[in-house]
Amino acid sequence: MLEHGGALNALAVRYGIAAKDWLDLSTGINPQGWPVPSVPAAVWRRLPEPDDNLEPAAQEYYGSEQLLAVSGSQAAIQSLPALRVPARVGILSPGYAEHAQAWRRHGHAVEPLALEALEAAVDHLDVIVVINPNNPTGARFAPDTLLGWRERLAVRGGWLVVDEAFMDATPAHSLAPHAGLSGLIVLRSLGKFFGLAGARVGFMLGEAELRARLGEYLGPWAVNGPGRWVAAQALADPAWQTGMRTRLPRESARLAALLGRHGLKIAGGTALFQWSIHPDAGFFQEALARRGILVRRFAAPPSLRLGLPGDEAAWRRLDLALAGVRAERLTRP
Ligand SMILES: Cc1ncc(COP(=O)(O)O)c(C=O)c1O
Repeated sequence: MLEHGGALNALAVRYGIAAKDWLDLSTGINPQGWPVPSVPAAVWRRLPEPDDNLEPAAQEYYGSEQLLAVSGSQAAIQSLPALRVPARVGILSPGYAEHAQAWRRHGHAVEPLALEALEAAVDHLDVIVVINPNNPTGARFAPDTLLGWRERLAVRGGWLVVDEAFMDATPAHSLAPHAGLSGLIVLRSLGKFFGLAGARVGFMLGEAELRARLGEYLGPWAVNGPGRWVAAQALADPAWQTGMRTRLPRESARLAALLGRHGLKIAGGTALFQWSIHPDAGFFQEALARRGILVRRFAAPPSLRLGLPGDEAAWRRLDLALAGVRAERLTRP
């Protein structure tokens, strides 16, 4: 099973379908991402400068000055565990698996915790990592709940890490404006809502001392120049952002309805994906892949996550493929 979505080149060989002919629904990346203009030659040629337009645009967009640009939120996910001595770390499960891997890699004791188990675990942990809204379950945490946990952790020098990679469609629920409170770390990504995953730009919001330590750990030019240039403009485009906040939830509801019609009951989702628990998830993934449609499968619970089709042809193709898969399931030996 593939760890991440989007790895089409390997699948092209396995299924004999050219990479360009796949419908890739395996990620939660907006298929109608921010329209990138051509990048000026000087932006490619020059070293990135820390006082370009990126930080001011991000400060305005996130409602906080307490931020550090990183090369995708993944860079912060991988590096934060290096900034603490071995700790007891509770991580929301199921959830984006990179968090647990990164903390384990740095020698921390990781406790995967179900949503319902988090509240009771706060006082015996040093670090809690949640994804809000969660990927893939779509579960959401109330800001007040998280701020309460932050307070309980901070009195013991603990951290609350809130991965808000999928928060952009619902900014009122973000903890970004609270960044600067002790022990609070918020991660943001330009990869999902803005559809700029390839640019590798994200942010860590947190206390000045932690930003300085992470910045030092990552070293100079942590974010590439073209990525900074593109991200600065996307963050400073409120008209596009407002349009997307209307459009994406509508498209996601359409996806939920389509999946429901084909027997895939929805267990959760966000504006950018839908998640369905199904005992036959493996069969669906394989049968869709034979039809050139890539979806993400999770083993526990057996489930599928589908991102948004990007145009009407893609919607039709998914609809027809799911009808075919359904018929195939009924007639399989
Ligand atoms: C919940 C979550 N957080 C963080 C990331 C990393 O995204 P990026 O490094 O592109 O910001 C992902 C990517 O799939 C994700 O799903």
